[in-house]
Amino acid sequence: MIMVTGASGRFSSAVLAELHARGIPAVGGSRTPSAGQRHVDFSVPDSLDFNGVDTLLLVPAGAQEDDRQVAFNRAAVEIAARDGVSHLVYTSLTGAGDHLSMALPHRVTERIIMAGGMTWTILRNGVYAEILGAPLSWERQQEEPARIVSPLGDGAVAAVARQDLARAAASVLSDPGGHKERVYELVGSRAVSAADVAGRLGCEVRDIGLGEYRQLLAGGGMPVFRQSLMLSIASVIRHGFLAGTGDDLPSLLGGAPTDPLAVAAEVMVARPQRHKT
Ligand SMILES: NC(=O)c1ccc[n+]([C@@H]2O[C@H](COP(=O)([O-])OP(=O)(O)OC[C@H]3O[C@@H](n4cnc5c(N)ncnc54)[C@H](OP(=O)(O)O)[C@@H]3O)[C@@H](O)[C@H]2O)c1
Repeated sequence: MIMVTGASGRFSSAVLAELHARGIPAVGGSRTPSAGQRHVDFSVPDSLDFNGVDTLLLVPAGAQEDDRQVAFNRAAVEIAARDGVSHLVYTSLTGAGDHLSMALPHRVTERIIMAGGMTWTILRNGVYAEILGAPLSWERQQEEPARIVSPLGDGAVAAVARQDLARAAASVLSDPGGHKERVYELVGSRAVSAADVAGRLGCEVRDIGLGEYRQLLAGGGMPVFRQSLMLSIASVIRHGFLAGTGDDLPSLLGGAPTDPLAVAAEVMVARPQRHKT
């Protein structure tokens, strides 16, 4: 049996839908399981039970302090080994993201998995095209057309549509033996910048430095943990670390990835606009 954790999440639910569409039986694990799902909450390790699971897709909880994230993942890996899971697939972070503050718990978890006694596949996911626009915002001054405020400078990201990453994960889960001890770098085939998004939408960009971005985040009442995460993302993009493209994704998809610019622009259009005084 295949199990996918974080079943109510956007990525995991897309993986489950993709597996079901391919006629491959799979069960979701969730903190709030719906019918047919199993209870999985990494913060309650004693409750974890992977009996009967052959292939486990471990999707980390995300947005946790490093020590907590590592403890969650370590417990899940140890219990998977105890319960007889034979192949563990882990959604990690692209190597190009090593300077991101969120990278460390991923790298520690990869080591734990590689030493865990099960066969494994690491899916080093690139940045979702859906969140490429997260550091961007709209501003509008009186009657002037709205423009994009960006802390990203000339930086670009080889972003990937979440659905493509879900399809790649489904391909691995449907044939785990064909992907043993492989680390896939699932970045996009083209890099997208704030100027590209603005060009697609026919608007201007106002570039801001990281200091002004910090003030924007703090002024918006964002929790401190998330502020440092967003600043780290903006700085890493701005300094060019996430622009490198790769071939692993098209190879797992069996074709070209979705255009990340179209996805990023669509998300940006839906973002609220604020008036600048
Ligand atoms: N590559 C990227 O750009 C990128 C961006 C953002 C996040 N991520 C990572 O990718 C993961 C999936 O992304 P997403 O977009 O699907 O995020 P999402 O929609 O926020 O889903 C995250 C899911 O994690 C599960 N979760 C949270 N706390 C948990 C816990 N204590 N124990 C077990 N499961 C827990 C929840 O599923 P249930 O409610 O069903 O338990 C939640 O729905 C994230 O969690 C994060 O690690 C990657």
